[in-house]
Amino acid sequence: MKVLITSALPYANGPLHFGHIAGAYLPGDAYARFQRLRGYEVLYLCGSDEHGVAITLSAEMAGRTPKEHVDLFHQTNQDIFRQLQFSFDHYSRTTWPGHYEMTQEFFRVLQKNGYIEEKTENHLFSEKENRFLADRYVVGTCPKCGYDQARGDECQRCASSYEAIDLKNPRSKLTGSPLVLRPSAHLYLRFDLFKDRLKEWILSKNWKENVVRFAMGYIDDLKPRAITRDSDWGVPVPGYPNKVFYVWFDAPIGYISAAKEWAEKIGQPEKWKEFWLGAETKLVEFIGKDNIPFHAVFFPAMLLGQDLPYKLPDELPANEFYLLEGRQFSKSDNWTIDLQAFFERYSSDQIRYAIAANAPETADSEFSWKDFQMRCNAELLGKLGNFVHRVLVFAHQHCQGKVPPLHPIDDADAAFLEKIALQAELARECYEAFHLRKACQTLMELCQSANAYFDAKKPWALAKDPARHPELTACIAICLHCIKAIALIASPLIPASAQKIWETLGQENLLSEGSWDDILASRLPAGQKLRASEVLFRKVEDAEILEQIEKLGKGVKEEQTVSYEPLKKQINFDQFGEIDLRAALVLKAERVPKSKKLLKLEVDLGFEQRTIVSGIALAYEPEQLVGKKIVVIANLAPAKLMGIESQGMVLAAGGDGRLELPEIQHLPPGSPIR
Ligand code: 2FM
Ligand code: ZN
Repeated sequence: MKVLITSALPYANGPLHFGHIAGAYLPGDAYARFQRLRGYEVLYLCGSDEHGVAITLSAEMAGRTPKEHVDLFHQTNQDIFRQLQFSFDHYSRTTWPGHYEMTQEFFRVLQKNGYIEEKTENHLFSEKENRFLADRYVVGTCPKCGYDQARGDECQRCASSYEAIDLKNPRSKLTGSPLVLRPSAHLYLRFDLFKDRLKEWILSKNWKENVVRFAMGYIDDLKPRAITRDSDWGVPVPGYPNKVFYVWFDAPIGYISAAKEWAEKIGQPEKWKEFWLGAETKLVEFIGKDNIPFHAVFFPAMLLGQDLPYKLPDELPANEFYLLEGRQFSKSDNWTIDLQAFFERYSSDQIRYAIAANAPETADSEFSWKDFQMRCNAELLGKLGNFVHRVLVFAHQHCQGKVPPLHPIDDADAAFLEKIALQAELARECYEAFHLRKACQTLMELCQSANAYFDAKKPWALAKDPARHPELTACIAICLHCIKAIALIASPLIPASAQKIWETLGQENLLSEGSWDDILASRLPAGQKLRASEVLFRKVEDAEILEQIEKLGKGVKEEQTVSYEPLKKQINFDQFGEIDLRAALVLKAERVPKSKKLLKLEVDLGFEQRTIVSGIALAYEPEQLVGKKIVVIANLAPAKLMGIESQGMVLAAGGDGRLELPEIQHLPPGSPIR
């Protein structure tokens, strides 16, 4: 069997952080490493997603051309993956010419097969900049709640989503200039024509229930969607000058063009077809949960519309979000980890293990420095490193530094040998099922049992009695056999340390090139020379952890936003006096289901309690708010947001990505603010 593995192509629009790594990347790499050990022919692909408006916008803001921008972050992200010991067979990018050709070919086939239609509609045009502006370049007044800094696609205040042309008073985000409506023709992909085939396919899968439910919801509502944009950055649309494909049309084709580029690189240009078109391939696509619709619905439809029999994903492991100390990673708030500094102190295996042990598999999870310290010290060093070290020290002292014969064995030895085999089998099941957390637990359980076995055998006592030397050497042989299993089970997670351990056992080949079954079934040859024990994991001290926690959120430059919004028209004191602002104590806070931005707050106004829905979920976790006294507009007419009646509005400074709530320190709830 061939196993084709992909991890979502990250945007070349900024450096990756551990939040990304925990979602679609580390699980993909561990799976690829595991499947290679199982003896399958693995092709593990990834690459940079280099198109789209988010990239042109950031490039423009940073004063770079889009090409300079993606070159920079393609390199940066590749370096991060290298530092983390990723084992991609190929890391491509969506700006290489072969990707353009393949995207255009995909489009031609969809067009020939009747899945493309052209429609002319009004779009926002900047006369000053002489160009159509995509949603993200646009700000305006929300058609639902009247918020006057609303984004082009959805309102960050009330979370309603709309078309950019529905905004009132639309303006360019970059220049502030007003926008007008102009007709422009675009190409639409008839996703609606794939409904039945997609439904049948999804229902045939044994995927996580939430993935299936989510995908089915989309399929029911499938409509034609525009796959072109007015821009000069992207894959050009054949026959339509000044138009490029929408980034989510070209990006997933990147998985296929990456395979083609890989095949060219290894000098077998047709070999990619064995993976993408072969019935014997298992295709596994690792993604973050926000990418589900594209991978479970839109891209499969594009594949179904082709003439070639492309594989559809067999598995779609989609992880939840991974936070940093309870909040989303955010560069602008310095709520992040400087990776360069990180790798000067810590090893790739320490972070790989800490992420895997706490991977966001069934719910959001987080990196915390305390947890990192515990994983490094108590688990990697205390359980795994300690066992390897003590066994090797004994082997050098009492077995001439060689693997001793594995006999005679008593009941305790036999039970421990069985335990080793059992844990290895459990680990195999965990890796097959994408359960990295459980794989880490299984590994640690084995290390714990190994330490307990060693303690119970008391080899230091056996060493004092020459008559019991065979018992001592058998115990060491069994421990070395266990270390071999530990190295194997650990290698998808912590490959560098696993290889070190492997070599300490006197093995000369690469563990990653070995076979899972053979390694477990075989014995280390008696007499094989062992190497000296090496330090595998450094202890992480309390002081370093405190220093790291201290750094979080510090040193944020109070940057100016690109342009100040124009001052609103003057009002008199009476007009201001009509707004009733009050201090409100947050009693309860929770996320609004199906909304990334909204929190539902129960607040105490002193004289009464109210429910207020507020678009602050990207900046605050619910538990951060409980007990705070915030400022609300208490006499705003109630409005329904996501079906919940909001009885007032929370005041917040900033907008979009950065948002802060003003807080009342001492006055009681209900106090007026004027
Ligand atoms: O969400 C993201 O980071 C996208 N760049 C993922 C693209 S996956 C694939 F379709 F290329
Ligand atoms: Zn709104």
